[in-house]
Amino acid sequence: MYTTKPPKENVVRIIQQEHTNLTAVIHSMQQFVRTLGQGNAPSDLKMMRAMLLYVIDYPERVHHPKEEEHLFARLRQRTHDVDSTLDELSRQHVRGTTLTRELEHALARYEFQGAPALPALRLLVEEYGKFFFEHMRLEEDVVLPAALHHLTEADWIVIDLAFSANGDPLTGAPIQNNFARLYQLIVNAQPGQG
Ligand SMILES: [Fe+2]
Ligand SMILES: [Fe+2]
Repeated sequence: MYTTKPPKENVVRIIQQEHTNLTAVIHSMQQFVRTLGQGNAPSDLKMMRAMLLYVIDYPERVHHPKEEEHLFARLRQRTHDVDSTLDELSRQHVRGTTLTRELEHALARYEFQGAPALPALRLLVEEYGKFFFEHMRLEEDVVLPAALHHLTEADWIVIDLAFSANGDPLTGAPIQNNFARLYQLIVNAQPGQG
């Protein structure tokens, strides 16, 4: 979507907004597993599945590809100052994918085994939250300031086009609205959030 905001401000706003949304869903997941086993109906696990779907698909299909292919790639062209941080963040994108698969597995075990599988599920959700919060903080504290310092206006225009696109970066299909609906479903289900 075209906006009148300067491209660099728009990109920073989009990244921060996507981080805020992911943070909200991870917090919902943490809250959910902390209360699991305290009388939730088994059907409530559908909500956990919705949260998992969001934290698996949204970073993989929307957020990380834009960071890697546009922001990180251009930043590497302009400076080597943050190469080691960008390498680490790229490794973390892969690690994040692995962790979400482990989360899926832990949830399936809980569905079939019940209470004995709950501690492992809780531990993984906490680990995932800590991991992802630190990842996003590194991007906001190191990468965004470096990008604001080193990238040119032309770089920001191109990055803004990619970040503002409403489609799947892999297929071009319009998926952003699907994620927005899924996000609303998740946050609306949380008491005290909306
Ligand atoms: Fe990232
Ligand atoms: Fe990010």
